[in-house]
Amino acid sequence: MSKVPALELNDIHKTFGDVEVLKGISLKAYDGDVISILGSSGSGKSTFLRCINMLENPTKGEIIFNGEPLSLKPGETDLVAANMKQLTQMRQQIGFVFQSFNLWPHMTILENVMEGPANVLKRPKNEVKAYAEHLLNKVGIADKKDMYPSQLSGGQQQRVAIARTLAMDPQVILFDEPTSALDPELVGEVLGVMRNLADEGRTMLIVTHEMNFAREVSSEVVFLHQGLVEEKGTPTQVFENPQSERCKGFLSSTF
Ligand SMILES: Nc1ncnc2c1ncn2[C@@H]1O[C@H](COP(=O)(O)OP(=O)(O)O)[C@@H](O)[C@H]1O
Ligand SMILES: [Mg+2]
Repeated sequence: MSKVPALELNDIHKTFGDVEVLKGISLKAYDGDVISILGSSGSGKSTFLRCINMLENPTKGEIIFNGEPLSLKPGETDLVAANMKQLTQMRQQIGFVFQSFNLWPHMTILENVMEGPANVLKRPKNEVKAYAEHLLNKVGIADKKDMYPSQLSGGQQQRVAIARTLAMDPQVILFDEPTSALDPELVGEVLGVMRNLADEGRTMLIVTHEMNFAREVSSEVVFLHQGLVEEKGTPTQVFENPQSERCKGFLSSTF
């Protein structure tokens, strides 16, 4: 474990209008950590994840990537990036997997996975193609490479979305309820891919309602309630001996 966290969030606040949705959340992820973020709907999980790479501008707080603070300055209501080049570089190293896959519908599966490394990182096409095919193979979908997203099931599309994220060689991957849009019988195939990534030592922050999965793969579990960390610890601590009544209630309602 390196001494400098791959990702450190300090006292992240976010206000929408008059409503403070995040009330000061801090978290550290070291290389290889798998941190699951739990909480009921509306507790601020997505907003927190989106603040990490500035898909949402935090109102207050600090984002530190590999020991380097992201340069922020006051905007009209929230903090905004003060150095777009730095933000772009950070975003390239922080993958984001969305609930709704967000594949490009007009591109084939292979083109979806090649897009980032070819056009953003400007890597040579033949190298990118070979790597994309390798990643599609890894997520078990190599035979679909010339199809379009609409021709695939949700579980297959989400596996493509994961391959597309991996194609950028991110240091950290954020997942926002990656299996929530899937039919129950398709959840397992996506969790299987994520489990392999965890076993490889990938650094991941995962918002999920899949409690058994979170319990098995996480190095740390964080339970959010109304924009605050209400409980955190190892999976054993949080799942077997939660201290907070709200966390207990939440867990008993989901198992
Ligand atoms: N763009 C937005 N504008 C106003 N309120 C928002 C916006 N995004 C989220 N919220 C509110 O912030 C709260 C937390 O939302 P969210 O982060 O999506 O929670 P979760 O992901 O835990 O379900 C909710 O009350 C939601 O309505
Ligand atoms: Mg959410």
